[in-house]
Amino acid sequence: MKLVVGNEDMISRLIADEFIKQVNAKPNSVLGLATGTSPLKVYANLVKANKEGKVTFKDVATFNLDEYVGLEGTHNQSYRYFMNDNLFDHIDIDKSKTHVLKGVGNYIEYMNQYDDEIASFGGIDLQILGIGSDGHIAFNEPGTPFDSLTHIAELTESTIRDNSRLFNDISEVPTKAVTMGLKSIMNAKKIVLIATGKNKAKAIRDLLLGPKTEDVPCSILQDHPDCTIYVDEDAYSLVK
Ligand code: F6R
Repeated sequence: MKLVVGNEDMISRLIADEFIKQVNAKPNSVLGLATGTSPLKVYANLVKANKEGKVTFKDVATFNLDEYVGLEGTHNQSYRYFMNDNLFDHIDIDKSKTHVLKGVGNYIEYMNQYDDEIASFGGIDLQILGIGSDGHIAFNEPGTPFDSLTHIAELTESTIRDNSRLFNDISEVPTKAVTMGLKSIMNAKKIVLIATGKNKAKAIRDLLLGPKTEDVPCSILQDHPDCTIYVDEDAYSLVK
C-alpha cells in the first residue's frame, strides 16, 4: 500500500487527477465508485474537469459499491440518487453504462449477476473507496468473509448511527444493504481510498498497522498490489 497525507482539498484533487489520467489513457475505462461524504470533493473536481474539456466520460462504464435495501433509486437517500445528483447529471456520461445495485424489485437477481457483469466489462480499472469508522469498506462490516462477492449485508449499529446524519431520524436508516463483497473489491486493478477526520483515525491505524483479519474488513487491502491510501492529518493522527 502507498500512503499520501494532505488536506482534504489536496487529496481530493490528487484522486480526481488519478481518475482523469485513467480515463484519458483508456477512454472506455471501468470505474468503481463510492457514495458518502468522503468522495464528494473528488466528484466536484471531476465535474469541473469535464466542463473545462480536460476529460470526457462518454465511453466510460461505472459500477457502484452498494445500495440500501428498501430504497427506490428516486429516494433522496438512495445511492442511485446520490450518484446522479453529485456526478452523473453533471458530466457527459452515458447513464445506461452507470451501474448501481438495486434496493427494491428484482434486486436479488441483479445482485447475483453483478460480479459477472463487472467481469463482462473487463473488470474495474480504478476503484475509489471510503472507509467506515469500524473499518468497513462498501458495506462489508466486521466479520465479512474475505472471499465474499456481492451480497446482502446487515448494517451494524455503528454504521446506522454514522449514516443517520443524512436522514430525518435514525429510525429511517435502512438496516440492510446490497454490497460488493471484499473479493469483488480486491478484483479491481487499482484502488484509491480516501479518509478524513478523527472519526476515521482508528480504522486508518488498523488498516495501515494492524493485522490482516476479517474483524477489520479494510485490512484485506494490505494484500492489494496497487492500493493508495489518501488521508488528512486527523485520519492519520493515530498512526504517527
Ligand atoms: C459508500 C460506502 C461506504 C462509505 C463509508 C464512509 O458507498 O461504500 O463504505 O464509504 O461508510 O462514509 P463517509 O464517506 O460518508 O464517511
